[in-house]
Amino acid sequence: MKGIEKVCQFLDEAGTYFLATTEGDQPRLRPFGTALVYGDKLYIQTGKVKDVSKQLAANPKAEICALKDGKWVRIAGELINDDSRDAKAAMLEKYPNLKSMYSVDDDNTQVLYFRNATATFTSFTEAPEVIRF
Ligand SMILES: Cc1cc2nc3c(=O)[nH]c(=O)nc-3n(C[C@H](O)[C@H](O)[C@H](O)COP(=O)(O)O)c2cc1C
Repeated sequence: MKGIEKVCQFLDEAGTYFLATTEGDQPRLRPFGTALVYGDKLYIQTGKVKDVSKQLAANPKAEICALKDGKWVRIAGELINDDSRDAKAAMLEKYPNLKSMYSVDDDNTQVLYFRNATATFTSFTEAPEVIRF
C-alpha cells in the first residue's frame, strides 16, 4: 500500500479527525470526516460558504489530527482548492450521504487536496513514522 493510501485508510478507520486552520493569529479547529485519495492526492471536502473554506482561501496552511487505537496521525501541509468536476464527483461517490446537501455543479461543494504534506504517525510505544506526499 502506498504511504498516502495508508494515511487515508487511517482517517477512514478513525472516522472523525480534527482539522486546524488559522484565522489571523487565532487557531480554529473542527471535526471533519471526509478523506479520499484521488489522482495520487489526498482530498477533503467542505462547503465554500463555511468559515473553514474562507480561512483556507486566506491561508492554506492546515493540520489534521486523528486518533485510533492509541495511535495518532498529524498531517501538516497546505490545502489547495480543486474545482475539477471529476474530483468532486469521486468524493460524492465515496460519501453518497453528502449528495443530499451537495452536488458537483452547485457553487458550494469544494474539494481541497494536500500539498507539501507531512503525515506523522505517533504512539507511546513505537517510533514515529513519517510519510510525505
Ligand atoms: C463527525 C463530523 C464530521 C464532519 N465532517 C465534515 C466534513 O468532512 N466536511 C465539512 O465541511 N464539515 C464536516 N463536519 C461539519 C463541520 O465540523 C462544521 O460544519 C464546522 O462548523 C465547520 O467549521 P467552521 O464553522 O469553522 O467553518 C463534520 C462534523 C462532524 C460532527
